[in-house]
Amino acid sequence: MAPFDLKEEILRLKKERNAIILAHSYQTGDIQDMADYVGDSLGLAYKAQHTDCDVIAFCGVHFMAETAKILNPDKTVILPDADAGCSLEASCDAGELEAFLKENADRNYYVVAYVNCSIGVKALADVIVTSGNAVKIVSQAPEDRPILFVPDQNLGAWVGRQLGRPMELWNGACHVHMEFTRDQILALKEKHPGALVVAHPECTEAVRLLADHICSTEKMIPYCTESPASSFIIVTESGILHRLRKLVPGKEFIPAPTEQCSCSTCPYMKMNTLEKLYLALRDLSPAVELPEDLRKRAEAPLLRMLEQSKS
Ligand code: 13P
Ligand code: SF4
Repeated sequence: MAPFDLKEEILRLKKERNAIILAHSYQTGDIQDMADYVGDSLGLAYKAQHTDCDVIAFCGVHFMAETAKILNPDKTVILPDADAGCSLEASCDAGELEAFLKENADRNYYVVAYVNCSIGVKALADVIVTSGNAVKIVSQAPEDRPILFVPDQNLGAWVGRQLGRPMELWNGACHVHMEFTRDQILALKEKHPGALVVAHPECTEAVRLLADHICSTEKMIPYCTESPASSFIIVTESGILHRLRKLVPGKEFIPAPTEQCSCSTCPYMKMNTLEKLYLALRDLSPAVELPEDLRKRAEAPLLRMLEQSKS
């Protein structure tokens, strides 16, 4: 009997199931290399919206697979590890947000929700944003309503500053990006004086102030390609380094250190493995299932984002 080849088996099942494999740039390199599409939250949402496959195998974290299901109620959406959560999502409880909005009903907030949130939070939002389109979407918010930005205070502060528009910020954050510190980045800059600092907007302001460029994971690729610089300190989750090294050969990518280690890893993103992807395709499980009324309420602000993002 021929030995079991995991990658071959994944490809066989993918064909049999008529599945598409979508992977976020923070996934491990072996998963990225098996995927039909690798991208940021925005690119993945568009791919999920337009696929004609029957099954979406979503290699990312739960809110991303949930977003794909919100957009595709009739498709099977599987996530290799159902426990792949997100600390930023966890920092905004839908019940708490609902209570806050009720208590402050007189404010008539325009609620902007970063896509890194639960379906319950999305259902309470007027519009969704990703880190790739947040500035563009918020710039289209009604002028006559105060904005409440949830859950990421760092992304919210960065967007508000770009637009010169004050916003009220939920007190949430990503535990991975909060680990990067100003002192560590300064030390690394001293060691690599020619390197440019490229940071994700989920980093704290102290870190963002040291950055030469701030953008979503996807936009790091054209920025590093087009920049005349040959080395870059990358201040985000370490999975993006695999993609940068593959797509921008000949340049040096230095992972930003945290206080704890030399690279920063999102433990949730790394819960998916090729073995779990194989099992998910074989068993069509774990699959994302959503109550239809909630799905519909969360779909409206997501579709608004996808529409406004194009304009
Ligand atoms: P992107 O919007 O760049 O995909 O980032 C998502 C994320 O989870 C960052 O931590
Ligand atoms: Fe969530 Fe942070 Fe992991 Fe991104 S890096 S998925 S925001 S915990």
